[in-house]
Amino acid sequence: MPTSRKSQPSIQDVAKLAGVSLGTVSNVLNYPDRVREVTVKKVHKAIQQLGFVRNDAARQLKAGKSKALGLIVLDAANPFFSDLASGAEDAAVREGYAMLVGNSAHEIAREANYLKMFSEQRLSGVVISPVDDAAESIRQVRALGTQAVLVDRKADPALCCSVSVDDVAGGRLAVRHLIEVGRHKIAFVGGPLDIQQVADRLAGAKEAARQSKGSASLKTYRAKAQDVLSGREVGLAILKEPKELRPDAVFAANDLLAVGLLQAFAMQNQIRVPEDIALIGYDDIDFAQATVVPLSSIKQPASLLGETALEMLVDEIENPTGHKHRQITFQPELVIRQSTQS
Ligand code: RIB
Repeated sequence: MPTSRKSQPSIQDVAKLAGVSLGTVSNVLNYPDRVREVTVKKVHKAIQQLGFVRNDAARQLKAGKSKALGLIVLDAANPFFSDLASGAEDAAVREGYAMLVGNSAHEIAREANYLKMFSEQRLSGVVISPVDDAAESIRQVRALGTQAVLVDRKADPALCCSVSVDDVAGGRLAVRHLIEVGRHKIAFVGGPLDIQQVADRLAGAKEAARQSKGSASLKTYRAKAQDVLSGREVGLAILKEPKELRPDAVFAANDLLAVGLLQAFAMQNQIRVPEDIALIGYDDIDFAQATVVPLSSIKQPASLLGETALEMLVDEIENPTGHKHRQITFQPELVIRQSTQS
């Protein structure tokens, strides 16, 4: 039967049962080497008998700083963000912090709720992959004493630190590669353009097509979201097009879309990848190399993004006077596999 809040034993109960002062209990909990061993044992016996659990949040609040940090990701269902979260959490543990993770699912209201809750819980800081620029929300949480760092998005240097990847360069890299393997009718398949990462990848793709001086065309197909089902829907739509109008290559704005496209082409058994259509994704999630046709992709260092963002956040928390906001941008990397072999 869970104990109600009022039945939870207090530090006063422990002191009474052990027959010592409150200060002695506090010393046993925080500085046990300052207390005689017999007393330490007596206090721990009382703690065990009562089932006392220390209220770390209250203790940290009294000390003025929490050892808990927050991370808000855009899409917890996307392995890119779970890799990013793992990198951030490993760094948090290394730095002596715990990390709470929230998923905005591309919804501004959910993101705002997490930011509000994290600042009300007095978390020392939050790393966020924002739905939009989140500038106003970040100003608010920072005003309440919760530092913030953007990840997977470049920030205004006056606002906060950020760690991102040059997605315009990534889009350029993908389409240049498709042109290099002899493709001319290239399709860009991406989710809503209000996702900055998608808009940047499309901008890079268009730039590469322009630079081909007419040897390659680019047609954009809108996917409902950045996920497998949306990729499959677009793949089925491409199959309905007359053969002579179909693209001979597809650049998908992330690997989940590419997996859905691959499924559609394989399900209908009408299109061979890469023979009929070359296919390249973005993120290079682990799954990309395990697909039925190993997927070429534009690699983002997801774990390193999370780790770097977390370390910048801890620097600002622990070094507020000496900290200077930095914008770190990593370069994407082309990973070539069977799905774009010429
Ligand atoms: O969900 C948006 C996309 O941006 C993800 O697939 C990942 O590529 C991130 O950078």
